[in-house]
Amino acid sequence: MSDDYKITVTDREGVEHVLDAIEGWRVMEIIRDHGLPIKAECGGACACATCHVYVDEAWLKKLHEPRDEEIDMLDEAFLVEDNSRLSCQIIFTPELNGLRVTLAPEG
Ligand code: FES
Repeated sequence: MSDDYKITVTDREGVEHVLDAIEGWRVMEIIRDHGLPIKAECGGACACATCHVYVDEAWLKKLHEPRDEEIDMLDEAFLVEDNSRLSCQIIFTPELNGLRVTLAPEG
């Protein structure tokens, strides 16, 4: 069942957290539900960029391409890298079991 799915999130102190992931949840919601510090001020509406994460390079190509809204919002984010994504725009699916992301610094 869903308990078998995991993602690994590295916090801003460099500590790794292995989190239970649930199919259909946004990665942002998984991170927030486990109490890690992610602001996600807009609640997942792709309107704040405070759910910014860096995606492990090996996983980047497995994600769907960002929509224009996500690209526009990332333009306004702080310390954007090539592997930056908004975690509210990544819906967890079983194919993403083992996904690794790092929380971006707060702007
Ligand atoms: S939670 Fe606001 S853009 Fe992701």
